[in-house]
Amino acid sequence: MSSGSFVEVPKDLLKEIKRLEELFTVDTAKLKQITDHFVNELEKGLSKEGGTIPMNPTWVMSFPTGYETGTYLALDMGGTNLRVCQITLTEQKSEFDIIQSKYRMPEELKTGVAEDLWEYIAECLLQFIQTHHGDVAKLDKIPLGFTFSYPATQNYIDEGILQRWTKGFDIDGVEGRNVVPMFEKALQERGVPIKLTALINDTTGTLIASAYTDTKMKIGCIFGTGCNAAYMEDCGSIPKLAHLNLPPDTPMAINCEWGAFDNEHKVLPRTPYDESIDTDSPRPGQQAFEKMIAGLYLGEIFRLIMVDLHDNHNVNIFAGQDIGKLRRPYTLDSSFLSAIEDDPFENLSETRELFQNQLGIDPNPSELELIRRAAELIGTRAARLSACGVAAISKKKGYKECHVGADGSVFNKYPHFKKRGAAALREILDWPAKADPNDDDPIEILAAEDGSGVGAALIAALTLERVKKGNMHGILHPENFH
Ligand code: GLC
Repeated sequence: MSSGSFVEVPKDLLKEIKRLEELFTVDTAKLKQITDHFVNELEKGLSKEGGTIPMNPTWVMSFPTGYETGTYLALDMGGTNLRVCQITLTEQKSEFDIIQSKYRMPEELKTGVAEDLWEYIAECLLQFIQTHHGDVAKLDKIPLGFTFSYPATQNYIDEGILQRWTKGFDIDGVEGRNVVPMFEKALQERGVPIKLTALINDTTGTLIASAYTDTKMKIGCIFGTGCNAAYMEDCGSIPKLAHLNLPPDTPMAINCEWGAFDNEHKVLPRTPYDESIDTDSPRPGQQAFEKMIAGLYLGEIFRLIMVDLHDNHNVNIFAGQDIGKLRRPYTLDSSFLSAIEDDPFENLSETRELFQNQLGIDPNPSELELIRRAAELIGTRAARLSACGVAAISKKKGYKECHVGADGSVFNKYPHFKKRGAAALREILDWPAKADPNDDDPIEILAAEDGSGVGAALIAALTLERVKKGNMHGILHPENFH
């Protein structure tokens, strides 16, 4: 027990803790097995036949040099917020200025109708431009990078055919369609002076933004509401693009969409709680890996355990108390687990307060022990599993040393996530013990630069630049690139 060990935990509760430990612990051998399967699945996704992991080519065809310049708009439609930025890449190497506004993404839009979504986004953009540029009628069109962080097929960089919604979104009439014309229609109707020059994924943005300031960056990851990564492949290693006859050594960023890893349930150690999350989600059978790792689901896994131990096991935690609030799906987000893991007190008094205030439940000292351990197990499993993805890309590409840029609420805010992930990476890749604890790991997962803002602007700049040089691969509307 990591804390509060002065408490005598009753035997039956201890048994449940043990059961949870067995369910949620992923040992080194399992991590290695998952990683090996992951490497194969990455390959399969690039093959002509395709695989479960989409491995979407993005038409981002170079790393930045640090000397990109110009002013761009960036729109970030993530899982939780909508953000509009104006980024100026300055003459100074690797530097930029940014102004930005955040808008709440109304919950009802996520499961509403498509028109409302595009209208809301267009309104936010209009407001932003009016505030910072004045009368829109007098403006030339401003280039925009649109960070649309869902799996999308891109035959062109200015196209994005939504493969399926993830992260709890469920809006009819968008899956299977190119979102760009829908977005542009809403802009036109309001006279918003924008030309879309790139549709990007947050992971690709993160990769490119991080590489702008650090040339060792090889992989971009998001550990937030969702979980995913992007890296740079050579066109010659992407059999599904062979028909395009691109030069084999030309780089192409791949948005892996690794949240879909192991949708077949071959290797991931899923628990009954994971199965339940999947069954009750808007897209059962999808995003098996993501559903065990991402911020959207961590609190829900925890909630399901608590309800189960109240209802279905003879331990009957929170006996005699009204657990009505706890019964509401998705009522706890990952910040709730963060707070539990951050509780510095041996008697877990902060955790107790949290339960009292948010759920109207007063756990006894042994129950507090169980709560803390459950949070640790869920958080640790998430960090360790996510390391398998990083290890798999590194293995596939033969990267022995590199930097990985990571962003997202779980990476930035969840206690010990970085440390636990790094430890798992060391186990998977068999690194020897560090001589000095301050030494860097061969592969370091570091806090990224702002991918969906600066990254989107950089990709817009890189694309304009390559079109100017005559590289027209993956460009649907050349007229937008002048
Ligand atoms: C989900 C999305 C993916 C995104 C990730 C992180 O996995 O499908 O596109 O990169 O969340 O936001």
